[in-house]
Amino acid sequence: MSSAPFIVVKDLVKHFPLKAGLFSRAAEKVHAVNGVSLAIERGRTHGLVGESGSGKTTTARLLLRVIEPDSGSFSFGETPDVFALGPPELKKLRRGMQYIFQDPYASLNPKMQIRGIVTEPLRYGEGSSRLSSRELDDTAAGLLERVGLSGSDIRKYPHEFSGGQRQRICIARALSARPSFIVCDEPVSSLDVSIQSQILNLLLDIQEETGISYLFIAHNLAVVFYLSDYVSVMYAGRIVEAGPSKVLSSRARHPYTRLLLAAMPGNRSAEGGAPPDSGEPPSLIRLPPGCAFYSRCPQRSQECAREVPPLEETESGHHSACFRER
Ligand SMILES: Nc1ncnc2c1ncn2[C@@H]1O[C@H](COP(=O)(O)OP(=O)(O)OP(=O)(O)O)[C@@H](O)[C@H]1O
Ligand SMILES: [Mg+2]
Repeated sequence: MSSAPFIVVKDLVKHFPLKAGLFSRAAEKVHAVNGVSLAIERGRTHGLVGESGSGKTTTARLLLRVIEPDSGSFSFGETPDVFALGPPELKKLRRGMQYIFQDPYASLNPKMQIRGIVTEPLRYGEGSSRLSSRELDDTAAGLLERVGLSGSDIRKYPHEFSGGQRQRICIARALSARPSFIVCDEPVSSLDVSIQSQILNLLLDIQEETGISYLFIAHNLAVVFYLSDYVSVMYAGRIVEAGPSKVLSSRARHPYTRLLLAAMPGNRSAEGGAPPDSGEPPSLIRLPPGCAFYSRCPQRSQECAREVPPLEETESGHHSACFRER
C-alpha cells in the first residue's frame, strides 16, 4: 500500500497587494488564500466548495502555477515540491496536470480548428511529439469520440458547437496529454441544468477508466457531493470544514457548512425552519482577528471573536474549524 496521498498541499498562502491609495499609508493586501491544506488520493475527487470570493480559483491557479504563492508547499506524485521547479521542469510537469474552467467558450481560441485545439497540449513541452498531420487528425478524432463528439468534427470551429459540446472539447484537450490530475473550476456552472449531469457523468466515466484525480471546484453543494469522495469547505480564504462527502452531507459540524446545506434546494430546512442568512463574508483586506464567520454565526461566543479556530480532526478524516462544534 502506498502511504502518502498522490497530491499534498500544505499551508498555501496568497495575498494580492493592492496599490497604496491616496489615503492609505501602506499598500494593503487582499487575503485571498490564508493557509489552505488539502490532499488528494490517486483516482479520487476532492471537492472544494464555498461562496464567491472564498479563494477557490486562486487556490486552483496556485496549484497550476499560473500565479506564485507567498508560501506553502505542493507535492505531486514523485515531485516533492512543485513550487520549487524551474521553467524546464515545470513545462514537463504541466502535461500531467491539466485544467477545465467555467466558461468553455472563453477557453477556446475562436480562430483555431478543433483539431488544433484538442491536440495543443501535445505540441508543447517536454517530449512533445512530432506528429504528422495525419496522426494529429487521428488523435484529435479519437479524443473527440472519447468525449462523446464525432470524429468528423475536427475541422470545425468553436462557434459551431453548443455550450455543453464546447465543454466536451475542453475535456478532450485536457485528456490529450494523458494527465494524472485535472483541476475542474466550476466546469458545469455555465451550462443548462439538463446538460450538467451529462458532463459530470463524462468526468466520472473518464476517472473510472483512467484513474485521474480531480480537484473539483463548485458553488453548488449537490454537484460537489455527486462527484467528490472528499470535500473541503472554504470561507474567506480558509478551509473551515473537510471530510468524506457522505459524512459532510449528513453530519456537518461547522455552522457555515450547515448554512450551505440548509440552502440546498430540496432540503427541508431550505423550505422551512432554517434561519435566513443576511450576512456577508468579511472584507479580505481587513480580516477580523477571530473566526471569519463570526458576524454571521448563530453559535458565536466571545472566544470566536478573539482567535481563529484551528482546523482540527473531530472524527476519523473529518476536520472542523469551530470552537463551538467539536
Ligand atoms: N489578481 C488579483 N488581484 C487582487 N485580488 C484578487 C486577484 N485575484 C483574485 N483576487 C481576489 O481574491 C479573492 C478570492 O478570489 P477567487 O477568484 O479565488 O474566489 P472564488 O472562490 O473562485 O470565487 P467565485 O466563486 O466567484 O469564482 C477575491 O476577493 C478576489 O477579488
Ligand atoms: Mg472562482
